Formats: sequence, C-alpha cells, structure tokens
Amino acid sequence: MAQFLLINGPNLNLLGSREPEVYGATTLADIEARSRKLAHELGHELDCFQSNAEHELVDRVQQAGKDGTAFIVLNPGAFTHTSIALRDALLAVAVPFVELHLSNTFARESFRHKSYFSDIATSCLFGFGAFGYELAMRAAAHHVAR
Ligand code: DQA
Repeated sequence: MAQFLLINGPNLNLLGSREPEVYGATTLADIEARSRKLAHELGHELDCFQSNAEHELVDRVQQAGKDGTAFIVLNPGAFTHTSIALRDALLAVAVPFVELHLSNTFARESFRHKSYFSDIATSCLFGFGAFGYELAMRAAAHHVAR
C-alpha cells in the first residue's frame, strides 16, 4: 500500500461549469471520488488537495515530502506556465510526479506551451480530459510497483 496525492491548482474547483468545451463536464468532486476509488482498487490510498493559492500548493508539496507520499499527480492549472516556486518545491521534496492537463496545452495558445514542470516530471499526460486522472492513478501504481 502506497500513499498517493492528487493536487489540482487554480480554477480546477470550477470543473464541470468552467469552459466545458475545453475541460469537459466532469466536476472535480467526481474526478476526486473516481480517482480515490481506483487508487483503492489498485491497493493504494489517495489524498486530494485543490487550491487557488500558489503558497498553499507549495505548502502541500512541502508536506508531501514529510508525510510519506510516494507519488503525486499534479495538475498545476495556470501555474504550469508561471510558477518557479511550485517547481522548486517539487525539486526540494523529490517526490516523483505525473504532470497532468485535461486539455492538450500544445494545441492551444502559445503561452500554454511552456511548462515549468514537464522536464522534472516522471511523465506527462496532456489532453485526455477527466480520463487522464484514471491514467495517472494507473501510472502512479505502476511507478511504485517497479
Ligand atoms: C490546464 C491547462 C492550463 O493551461 C490552464 O491554465 C488550466 C487547466 C488543463 O488541465 O488543461 O487551468 O492545466
């Protein structure tokens, strides 16, 4: 049994109503419930955290470095393209993570093509919508089984 952590950044609390043509109709509560259920089926535990505040995301990553978290699934939202602070927190704790985006950011505006996380992530998932979180749980289980 391993401890996984799902982190969602700013505006992802609005999933379901936020630009559904881009991000889909599934709510964050549904994504978290499905992810937790799948983690259990795979024999693991999942903690879920969402914040719109950069410092709270940094604090949660720092906590993950001390609380036994084995793997992080991270959708940094718009902080993907701006946050050196969140990048530094992940480098500091050295907990492996998947970077996940509902949309294919490379098929969108050029400012979304730059990520502060892709080069330090274990792997990346772009454009699978809510299904990406299921893939990420399976990736986390695969990672800790190795
Ligand atoms: C996102 C992509 C980001 O560019 C955007 O700012 C988000 C959501 C995604 O999941 O596709 O908030 O991370």
